[in-house]
Amino acid sequence: MKIGHRGAAGYCPENTISSFTKAIELGADYLELDIQMTKDGELVVIHDSTVNRTTNSKGRVRDFTLREIQSFDAGSWFHRKFAGEKIPSLSEVFDKFTGKIGFLIELKKPSLYPLIEEKLAEELKKRELTSGDRQIIVQSFDREALKRFHELLPSIPIGVLVKHSGVKIITNRNLKSFAGYVSYVNPKITMVNKRMIKRIHHHGFKTIIWTVKKKNDLKTLKNLHVEGIVSDFPDLS
Ligand code: G3P
Ligand code: CA
Repeated sequence: MKIGHRGAAGYCPENTISSFTKAIELGADYLELDIQMTKDGELVVIHDSTVNRTTNSKGRVRDFTLREIQSFDAGSWFHRKFAGEKIPSLSEVFDKFTGKIGFLIELKKPSLYPLIEEKLAEELKKRELTSGDRQIIVQSFDREALKRFHELLPSIPIGVLVKHSGVKIITNRNLKSFAGYVSYVNPKITMVNKRMIKRIHHHGFKTIIWTVKKKNDLKTLKNLHVEGIVSDFPDLS
């Protein structure tokens, strides 16, 4: 699976409608996107928990209403030709792209947003996106949030994100602890080697690797038969 990181973040301002449209044009199978929650409980698509880096404003996502956050320019920081681009709500993204591509949804810092798992589960149920037919994968670094989400909607495949803090391995103990709720174990590219991919597969999990920038890495990963590759450049081949 070719997965466009924050859409096509190498070409467009990340996590915007332009970026998602571009990823589809470039032939991605999935859109990777990050969700957080506004003051009035709306799910919005943005990577950071503040708007500082990717808009012309400043402040925390959770301190703005949807209306307020959508008054900011989320395009100009990348290039002036994207001026006026907005932070999309998850609902807008589903309205526009459902049926055209799959969604790899990352619960970003869910501990900041009580009940965000419930909100996402409700949105998916409302849209009948719960059949688990590969249209949706939900991932996070936060294992407790993933367990909660899995209890709410067991049909949706779960991905656990892994990055290294010193030691570059995923232990067998880690892998065993994922049994029962995880379908994908998703390590950062810098951790990956042949043995690790073998062990992930051996424990019965699939794997999506992030974030791939170099052609050489792509080639290596294809040879390792990983299930998915996340890239800022979904046309990398
Ligand atoms: O798909 C995984 C990747 O998106 C996690 O890192 O920081 O880009 O959200 P980040
Ligand atoms: Ca992400």
